[in-house]
Amino acid sequence: MTTAAPSLKLRALARGAQAYSTLFAASAAAPYLSRSTPVRMTGFDLDLTVASTSVEVDDVVSFELRNPDGSDLPAWVPGAHLDVFLPSGAQRQYSLCGDPRDLTSYRIAVRRIDADMGGGGGSLALHTDVAAGDTIRVRGPRNAFTFIDVESYLFIAGGIGITPILPMVREAARRGARWKMVYVGRSLATMPFLDELQALEGGELELRPDDEFGVPDVADLLGRAEAGAAIYVCGPPQLIDAARVLQPTLNPTGSLHSERFSAPPVVGGHAFDVHLARTGVTVKVAADESALAAIRREVPGVRYSCQQGFCGSCKHAVLEGAVEHRDHKLRAEERAESMLICVSRAAGDELTLDL
Ligand code: FES
Repeated sequence: MTTAAPSLKLRALARGAQAYSTLFAASAAAPYLSRSTPVRMTGFDLDLTVASTSVEVDDVVSFELRNPDGSDLPAWVPGAHLDVFLPSGAQRQYSLCGDPRDLTSYRIAVRRIDADMGGGGGSLALHTDVAAGDTIRVRGPRNAFTFIDVESYLFIAGGIGITPILPMVREAARRGARWKMVYVGRSLATMPFLDELQALEGGELELRPDDEFGVPDVADLLGRAEAGAAIYVCGPPQLIDAARVLQPTLNPTGSLHSERFSAPPVVGGHAFDVHLARTGVTVKVAADESALAAIRREVPGVRYSCQQGFCGSCKHAVLEGAVEHRDHKLRAEERAESMLICVSRAAGDELTLDL
């Protein structure tokens, strides 16, 4: 067999590919050049074994997931999450809260939210129906909460919002960056992973339970950031919304990065009716609620996950009516015949869905 030297053209192409790969995937500028907006998929569907479960605090259980054959899992970075398929087939997203340098397992932590507290059944199903030894299907890891490399950080976590923040703080400490963290919650007894946070070195950790300090003043919390710091916030919607409003004034040279686990408020909506063709009912959607929230009253099992218009799991075909699309996911040809009911709305007074 003979081999020929690659042509000049091939060598130029190879050099170009190498330069692209270096710049967009491995350089210090990569996080900025290939930002995961809104989501970048880095893994794929995996059937994983629940190696163990652990009660972190009263209503929070963590799940350690491993490849059944013991091989390494796809790599991830702080801020990444998994789409988890529940035994019912429904899909929910949970942040990876373990150590990205240990690819032998993933860890997610789930706070149980009962239906009377607005839960959609996902956390309840994981708490009650999933145990060590079970197999669970996940998709990902995917990253919609990019962790940037800077010299100074302020982390603000509220309750179960600690899950994406924990690997970030660990990474900031490992890099030797300056970091402060404020962890708020109802009481110390409800705040998971205190021991892991307290074991980190080189930064300032402030635990601020409401039962000792009262409800936090968000401006006061933001005031702990150094000028120009990257501020990461994850927690209840009120915390995130207040931080988004206040940060540009309080720290104009800094940057705010946040992740919410619940639906954003509806802005500029009007009321409309949704006819569910297969179910045979008409649902009234109020101006300040999503079509998904209204439809869930009639069809509790309707599928959804992120509630923010980027995962695509709530896509339904539109049989009649014009749509005001508010998602970040669908292509133009998909928009011609379907909508994401978690964020998109009727352009007029009514819509008919194939649901
Ligand atoms: S639930 Fe994710 S796009 Fe609607």
